[in-house]
Amino acid sequence: MTSTVWIVLTAFWFHLSDANCPPECLCTSDIVNCGSVGMERFPSVLPPTTSTLDISHNRLTWLAPGTFHGLSRLNVLRIAHNQISLLSPAAFHNTSTLHHLDLSSNRLQVVGKHPFQDLLGLEELLLYNNHITHVENNALVGLSNLKKVYLSLNQITDFPFFSIRKHSHPKMVTLDLSSNRITRLPLDDIVLLPLTLRRGLFIHNNSLECDCSTYRIFWHWEKEGYEAVRDFKNEYSCRMFGDPLISVNFLHSPRFFDDCTIENMISLISPKADMIVYEGDQVRLDCTGTLSNVVLSYSWVIPHQDNMTYLIQNGTLQLNKDGSLKIVSVQMRDSGIYRCLAVDKVRMINETREVNLTVYPQLLRTEPFSTGYTTLMSCAITLVLILVYLYLTPCRCGCCRAPPNPSTISSFGEDHQSLAFIFGVSPTANLKLMDKSNLDKHLVFLEPLMEETNMHLTAEGKAD
Ligand SMILES: *[C@@H]1O[C@H](CO)[C@@H](O)[C@H](O)[C@H]1NC(C)=O
Ligand SMILES: *[C@@H]1O[C@H](CO)[C@@H](O)[C@H](O)[C@H]1NC(C)=O
Ligand SMILES: *[C@@H]1O[C@H](CO)[C@@H](O)[C@H](O)[C@H]1NC(C)=O
Ligand SMILES: *[C@@H]1O[C@H](CO)[C@@H](O)[C@H](O)[C@H]1NC(C)=O
Ligand SMILES: *[C@@H]1O[C@H](CO)[C@@H](O)[C@H](O)[C@H]1NC(C)=O
Ligand SMILES: *[C@@H]1O[C@H](CO)[C@@H](O)[C@H](O)[C@H]1NC(C)=O
Repeated sequence: MTSTVWIVLTAFWFHLSDANCPPECLCTSDIVNCGSVGMERFPSVLPPTTSTLDISHNRLTWLAPGTFHGLSRLNVLRIAHNQISLLSPAAFHNTSTLHHLDLSSNRLQVVGKHPFQDLLGLEELLLYNNHITHVENNALVGLSNLKKVYLSLNQITDFPFFSIRKHSHPKMVTLDLSSNRITRLPLDDIVLLPLTLRRGLFIHNNSLECDCSTYRIFWHWEKEGYEAVRDFKNEYSCRMFGDPLISVNFLHSPRFFDDCTIENMISLISPKADMIVYEGDQVRLDCTGTLSNVVLSYSWVIPHQDNMTYLIQNGTLQLNKDGSLKIVSVQMRDSGIYRCLAVDKVRMINETREVNLTVYPQLLRTEPFSTGYTTLMSCAITLVLILVYLYLTPCRCGCCRAPPNPSTISSFGEDHQSLAFIFGVSPTANLKLMDKSNLDKHLVFLEPLMEETNMHLTAEGKAD
């Protein structure tokens, strides 16, 4: 008799405490714990006061649209260790209060935009140990409060690094992509990641191929003391020739990377550009599209025979700090192919750009077209100017003393910008620019000459 009363009382107490608490769960004022209870379907009702919900270690297989409707205070959601392979696109509809979402150790295969787009307040997203092979380009777009994203232990082969920038994700400090299947890093996108995130980019234990640019970037990050590299130094390995059996540690085996000199740089070729201008116009030709900041050097090849150093000195041409070339008042004879080579010394990447400049006579002008100019135009280029513009970053710039070529840049001093012009004629140059139709046009470059240069001009003098 007494026990019956007790059971009735207990039931009554539970009923009072929260009518919506599922029988198998434990509910406190704002925590609902349904962990490890063998649940196969998401509970149909939950207390509306729930702020932390734990449904880990169950057998859920999917999350239906609007699963969390009515939980207007939901802050922390743990659904780790289930069998979820699918999130309905509207699964997290109206859950913008969520800060922490743990979907680790499930069976997700794709990270798409739709399920996550409503999670505007999300700060931590845990997706490690799933079966993810693909992260859609826009998967994290709009989640501007994100701080930490864990995608470790999946089968990801590439990640849309370009979608993460300082303005879109100002708070990001951790992106864990370790233990995936990434073979190549898009270095241009990676160097544009916000600095705070570069320090917390975990990328060890992937299937990276050994190459110089990746080596240089890790080498640089280690020197800078980035935690992600420092703490997992032993796992920064790469595959020689892409062969998984020949594994080399990036940071313990510098002798494998002795050859990482300028010849082994990665090359980026920007699309050719056509420009049509009229005589007398001011023209600006840009040198680099994708490369930016760090230590860049630029060199230009112009399509006529004049002494370019002289043209710069008399003000006909201007070279800007960003590598662009300005023709103050363009003449007919300036028509032709302009080529620029930008070299990023830190990452050992070079980029070339070609601009086909066509100058039309001024409409009102009746003067006949000078044949002398045509001759000049068709001349082979014998004039080469090398402009080296060193922008030494305000950091102590460990990069400048990189092991393969330690002395190349240091002679320029550490914290002032300088321009060095190197002038020469190039019949025997061995570096051809990309276009085979211009076989006689060459570009001489660059590193070995730098130290011999004694002609320094200040950047301010020629920059606009
Ligand atoms: C979503 O939230 C908005 C505003 O809080 C509310 O008006 C709307 O009814 C909610 N939708 C659903 C399906 O709960
Ligand atoms: C490295 O990644 C593989 C899967 O890609 C994983 O099985 C292994 O445990 C990881 N090793 C470490 C030390 O994290
Ligand atoms: C630029 O990169 C390409 C491809 O790696 C290479 O062949 C070329 O020599 C490089 N150019 C310079 C000037 O280093
Ligand atoms: C080009 O002009 C500069 C400055 O006027 C001069 O010092 C240099 O000797 C000239 N070079 C050639 C090859 O004429
Ligand atoms: C600069 O020199 C070039 C080549 O000699 C000449 O055509 C041009 O008129 C000069 N410009 C000025 C501003 O003196
Ligand atoms: C450059 O442009 C002109 C006129 O648009 C064209 O006739 C010429 O063939 C182009 N040159 C090259 C190398 O593409």
